[in-house]
Amino acid sequence: MLLLGISSALASPALLPRETASASQPTATAWSKGAVTLYPIHASCNATERAQLAHALHEAETLARHAADHILRWGNSSSIYKKYFGNAPIGEPVGWYENVVNGDKDGVLFRCDNPDGNCEQDGWAGHWRGENATSETVICPLSYELRRPLEAMCGFGWDVANGATNFYFASDLLHRLYHVPKVGGYGIVEHYAGEYDECLELAETNSEEAVRNSDSLQYFALEAYAYDIAIPGEGCAGKWTATSSEVVSQSIVPSVTASEVVSITSSAAQECHTHSDGTEHCT
Ligand SMILES: *[C@@H]1O[C@H](CO)[C@@H](O)[C@H](O)[C@H]1NC(C)=O
Ligand SMILES: *[C@@H]1O[C@H](CO)[C@@H](O)[C@H](O)[C@H]1NC(C)=O
Ligand SMILES: *[C@@H]1O[C@H](CO)[C@@H](O)[C@H](O)[C@H]1NC(C)=O
Ligand SMILES: [Zn+2]
Repeated sequence: MLLLGISSALASPALLPRETASASQPTATAWSKGAVTLYPIHASCNATERAQLAHALHEAETLARHAADHILRWGNSSSIYKKYFGNAPIGEPVGWYENVVNGDKDGVLFRCDNPDGNCEQDGWAGHWRGENATSETVICPLSYELRRPLEAMCGFGWDVANGATNFYFASDLLHRLYHVPKVGGYGIVEHYAGEYDECLELAETNSEEAVRNSDSLQYFALEAYAYDIAIPGEGCAGKWTATSSEVVSQSIVPSVTASEVVSITSSAAQECHTHSDGTEHCT
């Protein structure tokens, strides 16, 4: 290598000596100096909570990463894309998923204390702090009991059509992340439609809103992950029925109490999605 270096230097006498050239050049990483690449976790989280939350945040990125990758691979020729995003151009949904994965995470704080007192309310597993701290999310102890790992995708009888979007920790956090201004484009990603059937309708009637609808972004990511990764070529899209959420909660998750069911059924997930006043209502 040394000999090669010398001979190439001799062969290119017009080039400056290596030391001089590098001294005047910016270093390769200067542009990203100070970037925050991991979602900050507050000191209020104990070691166990921190470990689980860090893992779940990584899962949320995995889910978003695959959603973007599926669109980048298949575009609107994907039937899953058409189902949730209709005729919308691909740029916007790819961008919202990319933002979760690669957006700067400075200040996007997850905490485990109970600064607003909401964790004491029955069934609350977490909440966006809204006007009290728009970049902060509280994850209550109940989340660690209820939320399932991505590896359990399509397990427990869950399917995309009838299961709650917050059944998995990854998709629950995707929802919470989109409430954070810098992750959701400062109010662009919002709740335009909540329930599964409403999201499918939105894809057909208003695809411009579908690609910035928090639940559509969650449903698409879950279905793409289920079909491509969890059970390749099969997935667990399910067939929507109006009453199925109760069936799922009773027959598939027998160990949960009535208040816990709040976070598992899709009808309850819908109730967790009212934020017009900046708060998260889950009961
Ligand atoms: C994909 O989008 C392009 C541009 O809007 C459109 O011309 C084409 O028909 C779409 N393809 C499918 C399969 O929907
Ligand atoms: C950490 O917090 C959880 C509640 O999320 C609690 O169950 C657990 O006991 C705590 N661990 C320690 C070591 O305090
Ligand atoms: C913000 O703080 C106030 C006062 O503590 C509280 O009543 C309100 O519920 C909090 N908002 C949220 C979204 O938690
Ligand atoms: Zn919400």
